[in-house]
Amino acid sequence: MRVLVGDTPVEVGEGATVLDAARAAGRYLPTLCQDDRLSPRGSCRVCLVRAADRVVAACTTPATEDMAIQMDDPRAREAARGALELIVSELPSRALEIPAERSELVRVCTHFGVTDTRFHGATHRRGVDHSHPYVKLDRDLCIACGRCVAMCAEVQGTFALELAGRGFDTVVSAGTGGPWVDSPCVACGGCVDTCPTGALSEPGLLDPAPIATTTTTTCGYCGIGCTLDVHVRDGQVAAITPVHGAPVNRGHACVKGRFAHAFAGSRERLTAPLIRRGDALEEASWDEALGLVAARLTAIRDRHGGQAVAMISSARATNEENYLAQKFLRTVVGSNSIDNCSRLCHAPSAAGLTASFGLAGGTNPLDDLDHADCILLAGANPTEAHPVVGARITQRVLAGARLVVVDPRRTTLAALADVHLRGRPGSNVAVFHGLARLLLDGGYTDEEFLTRRATGLAELTELLRDYPPERVAELAAVPASDLATAARLYGQAEHPAIVYGLGITEHAHGTDGVRTLANLAILRGAVGTPGCCGVLTLRGQNNVQGASDMGALPDLLPGYQPLADPAARQRVARVWGQPVPERPGLRIPQMFDAAIAGRLRALYVIGEDIAQTDPDSGHVRAALDACEFVVCHDLFLSQTAAHADVVLPAVSFLEKDGTFVNFDRRFQRVRPALAPPGQATSDFDILRRLAHAMGADLGCPTPAAAMAECAAVAPLFAGISHDRLDREGPLHWPCRGPRDTGQAVLYLDRFATADGRAALAARPYLPPGEQPDTAFPYVLVTGRRLEHYNSGSMTRRTPNTTLLAEETLDLSAADAAALGIDDGTPVAVTSRRATVTLPARITDELAPGEVFTAFHFPDPATNSLTSAHTDTATGCPEYKVTAVALRPT
Ligand code: FES
Repeated sequence: MRVLVGDTPVEVGEGATVLDAARAAGRYLPTLCQDDRLSPRGSCRVCLVRAADRVVAACTTPATEDMAIQMDDPRAREAARGALELIVSELPSRALEIPAERSELVRVCTHFGVTDTRFHGATHRRGVDHSHPYVKLDRDLCIACGRCVAMCAEVQGTFALELAGRGFDTVVSAGTGGPWVDSPCVACGGCVDTCPTGALSEPGLLDPAPIATTTTTTCGYCGIGCTLDVHVRDGQVAAITPVHGAPVNRGHACVKGRFAHAFAGSRERLTAPLIRRGDALEEASWDEALGLVAARLTAIRDRHGGQAVAMISSARATNEENYLAQKFLRTVVGSNSIDNCSRLCHAPSAAGLTASFGLAGGTNPLDDLDHADCILLAGANPTEAHPVVGARITQRVLAGARLVVVDPRRTTLAALADVHLRGRPGSNVAVFHGLARLLLDGGYTDEEFLTRRATGLAELTELLRDYPPERVAELAAVPASDLATAARLYGQAEHPAIVYGLGITEHAHGTDGVRTLANLAILRGAVGTPGCCGVLTLRGQNNVQGASDMGALPDLLPGYQPLADPAARQRVARVWGQPVPERPGLRIPQMFDAAIAGRLRALYVIGEDIAQTDPDSGHVRAALDACEFVVCHDLFLSQTAAHADVVLPAVSFLEKDGTFVNFDRRFQRVRPALAPPGQATSDFDILRRLAHAMGADLGCPTPAAAMAECAAVAPLFAGISHDRLDREGPLHWPCRGPRDTGQAVLYLDRFATADGRAALAARPYLPPGEQPDTAFPYVLVTGRRLEHYNSGSMTRRTPNTTLLAEETLDLSAADAAALGIDDGTPVAVTSRRATVTLPARITDELAPGEVFTAFHFPDPATNSLTSAHTDTATGCPEYKVTAVALRPT
C-alpha cells in the first residue's frame, strides 16, 4: 500500500505499522519499548507522531492506504518528549551517563535534547542483583517497558521473567523473585540484548571503557551457526552479541555462544609447541617441532607406507583447514585414512540421507519451521544442545503447531508436546515403523508422490505387516494409542516437519534409524515438494557438516565424490597436480583397532579430544599408547594431548579466518576477532608449514585460495567463494556456479539418487548392540547439557562452571528409592568395561530403568563406560545405549 511520510511517498506491505512506514522512508523515529523481534507493546509513548490527523503511537498503529504521516508535528513531539521526561524522572542520573551505543534511552534523550526533567519522580533504592555470572540487574534503571519479559517469553520461550510490583514500583524480576542465578533463566542473553536502558547488562558492557573493534563472525559452538558480533577491548573479548536480522539466529543466541568466551583468554591456552622428552612435554620452537613431526611422519611413511599414518581432522576447524588436512594426508602422506568426528555423530545421517534422498545433508532450511504445523522431533533435546532451534520450535508450538517428540527422556520440549513417544533406548526403528504402518493404514500417504517420485513402497508395505501398533508397543514400550495420535498429527498436517539429532544416529542401527525416519517424510510427500518442511538434522559440532563436505573422510573426496570413482579421482588429481591414492582409508574406530594391531604407526589428531569423547576410552588410550608417534593440535593440554609426542598450539574460532557450514548447509564466514595468544597459529598455517617441512607445497596460500580450489574440485560447491560470501552473505550448497544462489530447499525437481526418486527403506528393527541383563540392569543414555559443550574444554574455562560445576547421574525417583539413593548421593556406575562414580540427580526426565549423564568433564570418565558397539553401516558408536549397574557408595 502507498503511504505518505512527510512529502515522501513509500510502499509498505500489508500489516505494516506507521513505524515501518517511517523507516521505509528513511526517517528515524525514537522508540523505547519496541523491538522488531517482539510483538509491539505501545507503552512508552516516545514514538508519537501525527498520522491520519491523529496523534498515535507509531509502533502499534497500522498504516493504511494513503495515510499521511507527519513526523515533525509539534503536538506529537511535545507529548513524546513529555513521556520521555516522565520516564527519566524516575531514573538515577547514571542512567544518562551510559555510552550512547549501549543505551537506547540515551540515544532517545539525545534525539529530544533531554538532559534533565521538569518532573520530580520517586527516588528508588531497589539495588542490584549481580548473583548471575552473566546477567546483571540494576533495578533502578528499569523502566518496566516489558521488553525483557517479552523476549524471554516470545523468543526464548522460557517464561522466566515477569514485571513484579505495581505502579512506579514495577520492576523486572526473575523466577519467584530470589537471586537471578537461582531462577529458571537459561542465560540466552535475550533480555540483556533488548534492554533499552542498561538495567539488564553483562559484565563486559558494564565497563564504560570504549570497545576497540567489533567483528562479525559465526559461532564456534554447536552446528546451528549463529551470526555474532565479537566486541574486543584491550585485546580481549569484552562481549559477544547476536546480530539482529541475521539469517539463522535472527538476533538470538544461547549461554554458550553469547557468553562463554573467557576460554579464549585463559592462562591455560597453549602458546608454544610442546615436544615429549621422556615423560614430560617441554616447550620447543616451531622449527624444532615441525622438523620433528616432518621427520617422523616421513620415516614412517617411507618405511611402512602411507597406510601406516592416519589423521583425525576437526569438526571445530574451518572448511579451509579441513580441505587442507585431507589434501595433506592424501598428497603428502599418500593415505586416505582421514576421518572426522561426524563418524561419532552424524555419519549415519550422511549415509542414510544419501541413500534415501541423494545428498548428505538436511533437506530444508531452518526458516521453513516458520510454517510447520506439526513438528516431529526425534532423538534431540535442542533446548539444551541447540538452544536457538529449541527456542524456535517452542515459538512454533506456542503459535499453535503440534509437536510429537520421540525421546526416552522427558525433555523440556517433550513436556510441551502433544504426544511424547517415550520409547526405550534403541527402539527408534520400531517406533518409526509403527508410525509408517499407521500412516499407510490411516490413508495419510501421498499416493501421487509415492507413484511418481518414490521407490520401495511394495517392499516397505510388506515389511510393515510385521509392525502393527500392538507389536511396536511391545518392542518399544510405547502405548499404541500414543502411536496412533502421533501418526494422526503428522499424517494430517499440511506442513509437517521432521527435526532429529544424535538420539537417532548414535545407535548400533543408526543409519536404519535415519532411513526409517526419512520413510515418514516420503510417505507423506513432505520432502522435495513446494511448501514442505522436509527433514532437518541437528548437527552436533559447529562445522561437522563442513568437515565431511570438505572430504575429511576415508572413502569420499571433497563434495562427497566417491573415492572409488576414477572420474572423481581424476577431477581432483587434475587440480592438485598429483594422483589421489585409491585404497580407502580407515574410519576412526578402525584406526584404534589398527594401532593396537600394530598396523597403524602414527596418529595425527586435529582439535579432537578423542581420549575423553570417544567411546570405550580405555581402548582409545591403549591405541594412543600403541602408536609410535602421536601429534595433536589443540587450544589446551587435553587428555589426548597428554598422550602425544608433539602438541602444536592452535587457535580458536575467534582467532581464525575461513568458513563453516552449518546444519542446514549454509556456508558462513568466520573472521578473526582476536590475535592468537603467544606463538599459537591456525591449523591452516600449521598444515602448510608442515607440508613444506616434508618437501611439499600444498598451494592455497590463504583460506580464500583454499575455498577457491575446493570449488574447482567439488561441483557441489563450485559457486562458493569468500568474495561472494562477503558480498552476498551465507550461501546454501549445492551452489554449482557463480550465478547459482544456492539451494535452500532440496529436490524440488528430482531427488539426487541414481533414478531421481526418493528411496523408501525396508529395514527390519534390530535390537541394540548392548543389552541390559541381571548383572547390568539399567540403560545409560549419554548426551549434552545446556551449560557445557562436548569435552567442555572451552566451557569449563568460563563462568559457565558456576552455572553447572559438575557432572551428575540423572535417574528417576522410583529407581532412586529402590536403591536407597538421595539427591547428591555418590553412585558407582559400572558397565561391562569400567566403573565411575557420579553424584545422583533425581528427576522426572528419566523413566525407571534408564539413567543419563554427559561427558563434559574429564573426571568422571563417562566414556570409559560406553561400548565399542557401532552402527553396522557407518561405524558410528552406540553412545545412547550402555548397560550399567548402579550402587550407592
Ligand atoms: Fe512506541 Fe514505545 S516505542 S510506544
